[in-house]
Amino acid sequence: MLKKIVLGAITLPFVMLYSCKQEITDTDVLQVKSSRPKSEALTSRYSYADVVVPVGFEEAAQMLMAEDPGLSSSMTTVPLTAGKTVQIASVTDAKAKLGRILFYDKKLSINSTVSCGSCHLQEKGFADGKALSAGFEGRLTTRNSMSIINPAMMHSGMFWDRRESSARALSLRPVVNHIEMGMEDLKLLEIKLAGTDYYAQLFADAYPEAPFITRDNISDAITAFLRSMVTWNSKFDQGMRSNFSNFTAEELRGKELFMGNAATNIDPFGNVISNGACGGCHSAPMFNDGGFSTGISAYSDNDTGNGKGVNIGLDKVSKDKGTGDGSFKIPSLRNVELTAPYMHDGRFSTLEQVVDHYNEKIQPAANLHRRLREFDGKPKRFNFSDADKKALVAFLKTLTDRQFVSDPRYSNPFEN
Ligand code: HEC
Ligand code: HEC
Repeated sequence: MLKKIVLGAITLPFVMLYSCKQEITDTDVLQVKSSRPKSEALTSRYSYADVVVPVGFEEAAQMLMAEDPGLSSSMTTVPLTAGKTVQIASVTDAKAKLGRILFYDKKLSINSTVSCGSCHLQEKGFADGKALSAGFEGRLTTRNSMSIINPAMMHSGMFWDRRESSARALSLRPVVNHIEMGMEDLKLLEIKLAGTDYYAQLFADAYPEAPFITRDNISDAITAFLRSMVTWNSKFDQGMRSNFSNFTAEELRGKELFMGNAATNIDPFGNVISNGACGGCHSAPMFNDGGFSTGISAYSDNDTGNGKGVNIGLDKVSKDKGTGDGSFKIPSLRNVELTAPYMHDGRFSTLEQVVDHYNEKIQPAANLHRRLREFDGKPKRFNFSDADKKALVAFLKTLTDRQFVSDPRYSNPFEN
């Protein structure tokens, strides 16, 4: 009895200190069952840094050469030539190799149960198939896990509310996030990784000048891996090289509904502009907010002028405020066939439901984007026929890059 009271008196302050945070102690964090990457991942000599610019990416690929492009939508340099090899800035093969292992290593979470790869699965275009994802304690994230699409060319901000400017700015956020990975003390992470038998060499190879397991190098390697992820070999991309002779009649119809008829839509400066139902916001080649060929971003012509996100009328009044008023980042639609469920809250489980939303269910939200309104300001009704809706879905499926989602360079190097 006495023993119990004494013990209680000693542990109580600690319990009080930690109870609002976690019951996991530092010792628990450091003593983890050691899982090792497959030897393939440790010995591989994959090439990550050098890429060949495909047709259609002449402008967007300039972003690859910028160290940390952040939120800049206007590129002032001269477009690249398709077929040219460029080196992705901040990426070396050794850094990306290390970054791949870090991305999939559950040791980056406080109780070694969750890795970045737990919520970003390669075969699902790096989304996870769930409306909300479970973090290290099984608690759910507040938003739908996003697919990872060409982060090095993402000039419109990261996360559904665009709160981080770049892959680099984002790289450690999920690690310290209290729902996702819970590793709030990055010093502990450094010690934990130093306790493995494989990281010392990987860090030495990646950072010969400063071969240390530091949070900066961890962040830099994850950034390098993210920036090395380029997806630009979908059926659509192949079509760019062959005037879409590889498309079926239905896919061509879907493309026209989506993007408009590019041949007849040239602005006074000679730029191709979209008069389709979707391409003004999801514009090629990234299928996110555009801004490459036109220099005009859909964010800047939002009715309310908030310039931050876009409200597509999912609800009359939004529960999640997003960038402030129910507006969200325009997500890239590359690999969208694989990234269900859809929208920031994962409310739609199929592409057909998404198309139905745009066709007939747009709500009169106060700041509904101007492109989704009729002239009188009411929510737009596209009145697609059933065949049109099918064609739109068929077109969306041409954005799937099978090579990217089976590329061993981005695959999970751990057994589990
Ligand atoms: C528990 C699940 C979970 C884990 C673990 C996780 N993420 Fe995420 N990730 C998400 C969710 C949810 C979002 C969207 C969050 C938001 O918008 O608020 C997201 C968004 C992202 C995005 C933004 C994509 C874009 O286009 O804006 C990137 C990149 C990303 N995560 C990378 C990572 C990396 C790197 C790690 C590991 C260090 C990681 N994630 C760990 C769930 C997770
Ligand atoms: C006014 C700009 C705008 C237009 C026009 C637009 N979208 Fe979107 N789209 C968005 C935004 C913003 C989101 C994210 C909304 C959210 O989650 O709250 C989105 C989300 C999506 C998603 C879900 C992506 C994911 O990863 O969850 C799909 C699919 C989609 N749109 C397809 C289309 C199609 C098809 C059309 C044409 C019929 C279209 N969009 C027209 C802005 C637009």
